[in-house]
Amino acid sequence: MTDDYAAAAEFYDLMATPYVAAVEPVLSRLLSEVDTIAGPVTDIGAGTGLSTVLVAEALPDARIVAVEPAAAMRAVLLSRLAARRDLRERITVLPSGFLGTPLPQQCAAVVALGVIGHFDTATRPRVWAAIAAALAAGGDAVVEVQRPGGVEASPERRYTTARAGDLRYEGWSRADPVDAESLIWRMTYRTYRGEDLMQEVHTEHHVWPADADRLTAEARTAGLRRVDLDEATGLLRFTR
Ligand SMILES: C[S@@+](CC[C@H](N)C(=O)[O-])C[C@H]1O[C@@H](n2cnc3c(N)ncnc32)[C@H](O)[C@@H]1O
Repeated sequence: MTDDYAAAAEFYDLMATPYVAAVEPVLSRLLSEVDTIAGPVTDIGAGTGLSTVLVAEALPDARIVAVEPAAAMRAVLLSRLAARRDLRERITVLPSGFLGTPLPQQCAAVVALGVIGHFDTATRPRVWAAIAAALAAGGDAVVEVQRPGGVEASPERRYTTARAGDLRYEGWSRADPVDAESLIWRMTYRTYRGEDLMQEVHTEHHVWPADADRLTAEARTAGLRRVDLDEATGLLRFTR
């Protein structure tokens, strides 16, 4: 695979702080009825482990399988686990793509935050089928609708800033349509000391957007019923 997260990994957690604050209470609520006795929870596209730790904190008894193909993102995730023995004992990190590895069966839940749009429209039916097949009867899938929910241009904007020590970090994003089904997010990360630009990094992500209605219809085809939608965060909960 092309590792389009290699450059982003350095900045990912700093830039994600507002996102994590918004998602945390909603994810916790959507997972509140998960029966952790039934089986593990799989986190698809675990990234640096922000979503994995949110799952771990929402479900203190759950065993978790984190699926993450990008080595740079996994490095941050494994570093996080190395520092937290309690998490390391119950989180397994699979170094592969979601469709490229045998998954645990009888999962109590499957979580997919910030990742469904990475699968193209021809592949997504296999993704939904794999989610449904991994879930125990009555298990829940929590999937994030990524913005925008359709193919549209987004002008360049500074979506967040953060400080660490003496330096200031800025994350910029812009979306450019590619065709009727997909767009490219162009990300720029800048590091400043005062007004001086010290570092500038560019990366791109090819994304196949889908809104809540489209994802709900796709999930239904795989036998998953939507039971919750949080408009503010775009988190959907499905039950098998
Ligand atoms: C925007 S990040 C989201 C990370 C994390 N879930 C979070 O909420 O912070 C998307 C992640 O999906 C991963 N990803 C891309 N293609 C994937 C695939 N085929 N299977 C599993 N993960 C994938 C990327 O490597 C990246 O780490």
